[in-house]
Amino acid sequence: MSTLHDKVPAGLDRKEAEVYRHLDPARLPKHIAIIMDGNGRWAKRRHMPRVAGHRAGVAAVRSTVETAARIHIPALTLYAFSEENWKKRPTSEVSFLMRLLSRYLKAEVPTLNENNIRLEYIGRQHELPADVQERMGWAREATAGNTGMVLTLALNYSARSELVDAFRSMVEAASQNGGFDHLQIDEDAVSRHLYTRHLPDPDLVVRTSGEMRLSNFLLWQLAYAEIYVTSTLWPDFRGVHLLEGIREFQKRERRYGGLNGDGHAQNS
Ligand code: FPP
Repeated sequence: MSTLHDKVPAGLDRKEAEVYRHLDPARLPKHIAIIMDGNGRWAKRRHMPRVAGHRAGVAAVRSTVETAARIHIPALTLYAFSEENWKKRPTSEVSFLMRLLSRYLKAEVPTLNENNIRLEYIGRQHELPADVQERMGWAREATAGNTGMVLTLALNYSARSELVDAFRSMVEAASQNGGFDHLQIDEDAVSRHLYTRHLPDPDLVVRTSGEMRLSNFLLWQLAYAEIYVTSTLWPDFRGVHLLEGIREFQKRERRYGGLNGDGHAQNS
């Protein structure tokens, strides 16, 4: 006879297992997107430089990615670095983040492989430093054969730029395929030209540090996503917090603009 304990996946710690037992494994999100926020505030509270918060944020990335893979979430997307971050933060902070990313990719590939995780990226990669692009390409290649969770890092990403690039790409494709007489623009066509064409739309978006904004993240793809905001600052976030977000997600009834059980119309 199976017990509740049987359904807890291997590798979860005691706290994670406790939350996991309340989850319905048949209704896990298929794609979770996370806006990692609060590194600066975490550091400030400790009278440390902002970059210390980013460094501490790597442990949160590691824990979150591993837990998501262990419970078989098919896709996880992390907003690591927005186009605005890139353009508006001091050069020293941007360089630090680039070095941190490079180091993360080098150090983490073996763990990604152990957990059968495939790495992808979204964002305007060609604007990143050449050595970082090279490291990114290497890490993607090194994990390309994995068949488990797809981990997508949003780097130099902006949802509006993504839409601009998608419209340009549609026009370009049409001009090479018989011209504009055959151009068909519908929702599927837009989705096929987004950076995320390899992914289902996220059904859950998590934002840390209490802010209630989407900050130009996946604006098209998050149309029907459940939003979970936690006051936990990103460097303190761990797998157990992800599971708590999933628990909250499962408490909500998803309707996609349809009717609820009583036949009452819903807005979303
Ligand atoms: C937001 O905090 C966080 C970032 C801009 C960078 C996120 C980077 C990491 C978590 C580490 C590296 C990532 C990977 C994938 C290895 P903030 O600086 O905006 O915080 P604040 O709002 O408190 O100032």
